Amino acid sequence: MSELVSFEKQGSVGVITVNNPPVNALAQGVRQGLIEGLARGIDDPGVSAMVIIGGGRTFIAGADIREFGKPPQPPDLHSVLEKIESSPKPVVAAIHGTALGGGLEVCLACHYRVAVAAGQVGLPEVKLGLLPGAGGTQRLPRLIGAEAALKMIVSGDPVRAPRAKELGIVDEVVGEDLRAGAVAFAEKLVAEKKPLRKISAADDKLQAARQNPALFETFKKGIEREARGYLAPFKCIEAVQAAVTLPFAEGLKRERQLFQECMASPQSKGQIHAFFAEREATKIPDVPPGTPARKIERAAVIGAGTMGGGIAMNFANAGIPVTVVEMSQEALDRGLAVVKKNYAGTVEKGRLSQADMDKRMGLITGTLDRGAIREADIVIEAVFEEMAVKKDVFAALDKIAKPGAVLASNTSTLDIDQIASATSRPEAVIGTHFFSPANVMRLLELVRGARTAKETIATSSELSRRIGKVWVLAGNCDGFIGNRMLAPYLREAEFLVEEGATPQQVDKVIYDFGFAMGPFAMQDLAGLDVGWRIRKGKAAARRKDLRYSHVGDRLCEQGRFGQKTGSGWYRYEPGSRTPRPDPEVEALIAAAAKEGGITRRQVSDEEVLKRCLWALVNEGARILEEGIALRSSDIDVTYLYGYGFPRYRGGPMFYADQVGLKQVYGDVAAFHTQHGEPWTPAPLLERLAKEGKGFRDFSR
Ligand code: 3HC
Ligand code: NAI
Repeated sequence: MSELVSFEKQGSVGVITVNNPPVNALAQGVRQGLIEGLARGIDDPGVSAMVIIGGGRTFIAGADIREFGKPPQPPDLHSVLEKIESSPKPVVAAIHGTALGGGLEVCLACHYRVAVAAGQVGLPEVKLGLLPGAGGTQRLPRLIGAEAALKMIVSGDPVRAPRAKELGIVDEVVGEDLRAGAVAFAEKLVAEKKPLRKISAADDKLQAARQNPALFETFKKGIEREARGYLAPFKCIEAVQAAVTLPFAEGLKRERQLFQECMASPQSKGQIHAFFAEREATKIPDVPPGTPARKIERAAVIGAGTMGGGIAMNFANAGIPVTVVEMSQEALDRGLAVVKKNYAGTVEKGRLSQADMDKRMGLITGTLDRGAIREADIVIEAVFEEMAVKKDVFAALDKIAKPGAVLASNTSTLDIDQIASATSRPEAVIGTHFFSPANVMRLLELVRGARTAKETIATSSELSRRIGKVWVLAGNCDGFIGNRMLAPYLREAEFLVEEGATPQQVDKVIYDFGFAMGPFAMQDLAGLDVGWRIRKGKAAARRKDLRYSHVGDRLCEQGRFGQKTGSGWYRYEPGSRTPRPDPEVEALIAAAAKEGGITRRQVSDEEVLKRCLWALVNEGARILEEGIALRSSDIDVTYLYGYGFPRYRGGPMFYADQVGLKQVYGDVAAFHTQHGEPWTPAPLLERLAKEGKGFRDFSR
C-alpha cells in the first residue's frame, strides 16, 4: 500500500484512510493508494463494503494544486474514480472537514455519502480559474439537478452537511464519530441489499433543465457583471450544459476539454498564484508560528469617522467588545449612526438577523472618555491624518493603556516610528492600515516600525485572522506598500489626461483591464480631499523642477471632492453614483495643459495601460528591493485585496513577470527617456530584466 493511504478491516467493512497532511490533497501517492485500497477490499471475500475517509482534520480537499503544470503522474484521477464507481461492493464516502474539488469528485464516484454536521462539500475550482475536471460538472447535476449544480460550481462556495443533505449530495448526517457512523451506514446498506448507486447512470434530475434549456443563458446573464473578465465561470456553465445535452461519457470528454482550456489560460495561473500568495504572505521569517501573542478580549478605537466606525464593526462582527472614543458627542453620534445604518442595510438585505445586529451593536460602546481604553488589549487609532494629532493621541494612550496592550495606528501614510516615539513603548506600536470601507475591504496592511516587537506582530496578525482579513506585512515608509505604489499610478493618470487623454478614456482602459474601477472613478469614490490634504502637507518639500499636475488641486479648490459633493473628476446626478463626463473638467484640464506648455495629442489606450501599470510595477520593484515588502507576491496580495486589481491577472508583479521583465523594463526605460526622472527604472527591475529573471526569482 502507498504510505499515504491505509486499509483496515472493521468487521466486514474495509476502511480506506487517506493520510496526506495537511489537507489530504490527491497527490500521486494518494491516487495510487486509493486504487490499491479498493483492490484489497474488492479482492477480500471477508469485505462486503468499503468506506473512504480522511485522516487528520479533513476529507480530501482537492487535487494537489502544486502538481498543476507538471507532467502528469499516473494513475490519473479519472481512472481512480472509474474504479470506485465500478466497484462491485458499495463504497461510502465519509466526510469531515472539507470535501472540495477532486475531493468531492471522489465522493460523487462513491455510491453513498455520509458526513458529520460540520463537514462541508464544494467545487471551488472556479476560484482557481478552473472547472471541476474529474466528472464534477457531469455528476453533480445528475445528483442535484442542473440549476443547483450551476450555483455551486459557478460560485465555488461550499455548503455545510445539513444543506448538502437537503440538496441530495449527502445521504446521511452522522454523529461526531464519523468512522463508526460510516461503517454502520455501510453495514446497513449491505444488510438491506441496497443497490450500487452510480451517479453517472442517473438521468432523472436532468429532466428539468432539458425542459428549460434557456436556463443556461439566464444563468450566464445573471453572473455577467460579477464575473466580468473571468473565463472559468463561463466554462463551468458550458460544462454543466454538456451534462444536460450529452451522454455521460461524451460529457466527460467535453469537461476535460474545457478544463484543459482553463488550465492553459493565463487566468488560472494568476488565480493559483493568488491562492498561494495569500498563504505565503502570512509567513514572516522572524515571527514564526508559535510566537507568543496576546489574547484580544477587548478592543478600543480612537475616532469614529469614516474608518473608525468600520474598524469597530470588524471587532463587533467577531464578537469582541469594542469601545469607540471620540472628541465630541456630535462626532460620536454621527459615527455610531453610520455603523447602525450599515448594519440595518445588511439586515434589510436579509444577510443578518435583527437579533445579530442588536448583539453586534451591543458590543460597541461609544464614549468621550479616553480613560475607557484602560481595559483594551488593542487600541486602534483612526483620527485625522496629521502627525501632531497622532502624536498627541499616542502620548495619551501610552499613559492610559494597560501594559502589553497593542497600540495601533490606522495611518495611511505617516511614519510609524515617529508616532511610536510619542510613547514610552515603541515595541507595542504597529500600523494596522485598513482599507475603506473598513468593514468590507479584505486587506489589512500591518506596518512594522523599527522597534515593533514580534509579539505585537503576532498579536495583530492573529487578530487579522480572527476578523477575517487577508494581511500583509509592510515596512515603514511613506505610503507603505499600497499607497506608495498608488502615488505614481495616480500621477501618470493625471499626466495622461493633461497630455490629451480624458478621464473616461483612462478609466475605461483600466476597467477593461479588469480593475474594479479606473483611477479617476476611484478618487471620486474615496474623496479627492484626502489626497489634497496630504499633498498640501508635503507642498513645501515638493521639488519644483519636477512636473506636477495641478488639475486635482484645482478640482478641490472648487469644492469638487468627488461623489460626496456631487462632482469631482466627473459630475453626478443627484442620488446617482454614475460618473458622467464633465465639460468643465475638460476645460480645466485643457487650461492646465496650456499653462504647463503641454501640446495635447491623441493618447493610445496601449500607452494609458502601460503608463499606469508600469508606474505601479516600477515602484513595486523599489519596495521589494528596499525590503518594504518581503516578497513580490505580498505586493500582489496588497493590490488584489486592497485596490481591486483583477485576480485573474495575479497582481501587478505577477502580471509583469508574465509579460516579461525585459519588455517591462524596455517600456520603462523608454518612458524615462521621454518623461524624465520620475520614470527612472528601479535598479531591481533593470537587473532582473537584464538577467532574464522575474520578480518571483528575487529573494533576499
Ligand atoms: N493542493 C495543495 N496544497 C494545498 C491544497 C491543495 N488542494 N489545499 C491547501 N493546500 C495547502 C496550502 O497551500 C497550505 O500550505 P502551507 O501550509 O504550506 O501554506 C496548507 O495546505 C493548509 O492550507 P490552508 O492554510 O488554506 O488551511 P485552511 O485550513 O485554512 O483551509 C482548505 C483548508 C479549505 C482546504 C483550503 O486550503 C482550500 O480552500 N484549499 C483549496 C481547495 C481547492 O481549491 N480544491 C480544488 C483543487 S482543484 C481540483 O481539485 C481539480 C479537480 O477538479 C480535478
Ligand atoms: P475622518 O475625518 O472621517 O475621521 C476622523 C475622526 O477622528 C473624526 O470623527 C474626529 O472627530 C476624530 N478625532 C480626531 N481627533 C481625535 C482625538 N484626539 N480623539 C478622538 N477622536 C478624534 O478620517 P478617516 O477618513 O476616518 O481617517 C482616519 C485615519 O484613517 C487617517 O489616519 C487616515 O489617513 C486613515 N485612513 C483613511 C482611509 C480613507 O479612505 N478615509 C483609508 C485608510 C486609512
